[in-house]
Amino acid sequence: MSERNQELLQLAAEEVEQHKETVEADPYRLSYHLMPPVGLLNDPNGFVQWGDTYHIFYQWMPFDTGHGAKFWGHYTTKDFVHYTHEKPALTPSDWFDKNGVYSGSAIVHEDKLHLFYTGNVKDENGNRETYQCLAVSEDGIHFEKKGVVAELPDGYTAHFRDPKVWSHDDRFYMVIGAQSEDEQGKAVLFRSDDLLEWTFLGPIAGSKENGMGSFGYMWECPDLFELDGTDVLIVSPQGLEADGMKYANVYQSGYFTGQLDYDKPYLDHGTFTELDLGFEFYAPQTTVDDKGRRILIGWMGVPDQYEQAHPTVENEWIHCLTLPRQLTWDGEQIIQQPLEELKEMRGPVLLHSSITIENDQKAIRGIQGKAIELNIDLETTGEQFSIELFQYASLSYKDGVMTLSRPHLEDKSKTEFRRTELRSELKNIHMFLDHSTLEIFVNNGEEVFTSRIYPQPEEEHILFTSLGSTTFSVEQWKLSGFE
Ligand code: FRU
Repeated sequence: MSERNQELLQLAAEEVEQHKETVEADPYRLSYHLMPPVGLLNDPNGFVQWGDTYHIFYQWMPFDTGHGAKFWGHYTTKDFVHYTHEKPALTPSDWFDKNGVYSGSAIVHEDKLHLFYTGNVKDENGNRETYQCLAVSEDGIHFEKKGVVAELPDGYTAHFRDPKVWSHDDRFYMVIGAQSEDEQGKAVLFRSDDLLEWTFLGPIAGSKENGMGSFGYMWECPDLFELDGTDVLIVSPQGLEADGMKYANVYQSGYFTGQLDYDKPYLDHGTFTELDLGFEFYAPQTTVDDKGRRILIGWMGVPDQYEQAHPTVENEWIHCLTLPRQLTWDGEQIIQQPLEELKEMRGPVLLHSSITIENDQKAIRGIQGKAIELNIDLETTGEQFSIELFQYASLSYKDGVMTLSRPHLEDKSKTEFRRTELRSELKNIHMFLDHSTLEIFVNNGEEVFTSRIYPQPEEEHILFTSLGSTTFSVEQWKLSGFE
């Protein structure tokens, strides 16, 4: 281990220690989501199952609640309920990653864990360089950097990053998020036979690519996989203009589906669909596990979207990861559902069936709490049905449109909204609340809203309102935290 690496690990450990009390006393700390021990967390990285263990790495800035020279933090779990916070896997300790061990992915090959990531380098004038790098581990805990495996090809700016690697037909492929010299966002492909030597194949999709119009100046964090017979390309494009109910956040995350021709190479794809309609969701990454499940974890944050206005900043930390979700393809769209294992966190169920509310607002006995799961099945809905959470956020349904609102994070006199038209009438709302997070799965995973919420810390009330008559059942579980 290099001296610089030792030194950075030591400094980060001191930072954790120094702010431990402050961070842990924050009322907005979470009980069942992955968070940084101090500082800033962003993208999930290197999500992979190796043997009986799932590894979830994350972009980590230990020294600040802003962005900067990122580390890879590291959690492991066997069951998505009990987690171990391992020591940081990678630090920005080398010439090729000195300004950040940026996002990337993991693949198991010849019984070793291979991490691919982007080495971010800035010179004294702030000019950026980018290197795709490899680090290898035999035990899943200690990583040895192997250095640079792919350089920037001609025709692209240094915004060229976030390698996602997979194998197909006995070869390896790497998709990278890129910006062409004419400032269009692209997803480009590399191929390798041994994970060490990589050949650049070219763009497979992008803004002004394959007959598509202009679609963003940069594509971050691509992920490419087959889901129930369809090829899916997930990307986080930057530079889309808000369009009606769509693209309301500063940057988006979503997917194209179609067929990837590995020989051309070229992804013949349809239109872009956002994965999540909430205020905080970005840079998701998936893996497939030994049960064949495609599992997604996202970052519950958006770059450059009032990040310093999150009140946790006062207590020296910011952001978290989403719950893991299983993806399936229903022939038309991706369906996202909370991973089965999360049921293990449930305490006894509290069930109220056939509740009717007519032109009224009601609390329901026992339906309240800070770390809970709610499942609401609707039989009939009136003109408008809404759920008010902790006197802070509100989820409402009217005329086929689902709307989530909360106070504006920067200007509290304003309310902000995120909305979408549902594909079919509202039947089901499945919600996870964890102190300052909210994840809402609508109609069994057809739509998801993921957001941070910052209610008064002691506020636990949930109110149900109906204009006209709404009849529903509600189940609630208190959720045990991670141990
Ligand atoms: C996305 C991103 C990636 C980059 C990483 C740096 O949020 O900007 O493109 O690798 O974060 O932390």
